[in-house]
Amino acid sequence: MNFENLIYEVDDHLAIITINRPKKLNALNKETIQELHDAFAEADADEDIGVIILTGSGEKAFVAGADISEFADFEEEEGALLARKGQKILFDFIENLSTPVIAAINGFALGGGLELAMAAHIRIASHNARMGLPETSLGLIPGYGGTQRLPQLVGKGRAFEMIMTAGMIDADQAFQSGLVNHVTSQEELMALAEKIAGKILNNSGVAIATAIQAVNAGFKPGVNGYDAEIEGFGASFATEDFKEGTTAFLEKRKPEFPGK
Ligand code: COA
Repeated sequence: MNFENLIYEVDDHLAIITINRPKKLNALNKETIQELHDAFAEADADEDIGVIILTGSGEKAFVAGADISEFADFEEEEGALLARKGQKILFDFIENLSTPVIAAINGFALGGGLELAMAAHIRIASHNARMGLPETSLGLIPGYGGTQRLPQLVGKGRAFEMIMTAGMIDADQAFQSGLVNHVTSQEELMALAEKIAGKILNNSGVAIATAIQAVNAGFKPGVNGYDAEIEGFGASFATEDFKEGTTAFLEKRKPEFPGK
């Protein structure tokens, strides 16, 4: 697949998606959002891919937000449509993917950029990363899930402070508040993402996909996460990965999961 605004690479069982509009600090225009959807859909459908890493090109930005120039003259309905469509095809889409997604935050992750990172399952950041939801400084509120996912990750009080002040936090503050799992140097960022990916790839992709569903179920209104867990736990017993995992344990060898 050819992309205008992304670099899509496959390295063994890993897909690396790099948002590539460095001159615009990788801001998410309409085309990039659609391309990201297509790239994530392609990686998720590829049975050989077990983990997806998402990052930004250049040394300055992961993603500096939604492309402000595209919505500066929008009216109410267009604004709602922008948020609804974006949430559906990209942000909710990533969160509910069967394949785990690691966001490697290599610089500014602002507005839609932080919302994109928060839709990923795991976030790591380089020391130079700066994160924030500056929408209220533009007379807006976050529209790509930020008002929901930020409080889930850092707690309501910290989320309110970030949203109301529209300020940025650095990588260490993000680590302390649970927004990112690890902080490292910019040079080591991708190596760390790949190291975490390697650990994930040792395990059953089917079980991981089921775990993603169960964890997410607990955050969906009207859905009982414990019931989803019971259902997913039961379903795991019918998989070939379960047979292989338990057999390998009893035979004292490393499992080779068939992924079914
Ligand atoms: N949408 C559109 N263009 C953006 C953008 C965005 N969210 N963020 C950065 N850019 C563009 C700038 O307009 C500039 O383009 P130009 O060279 O054609 O003028 C280019 O990217 C470089 O950005 P610049 O502002 O010159 O870099 P900086 O180092 O001075 O500042 C930021 C970096 C991130 C602090 C600043 O770009 C910024 O505040 N961006 C907007 C962040 C934001 O509010 N995001 C939420 C959107 S809802």
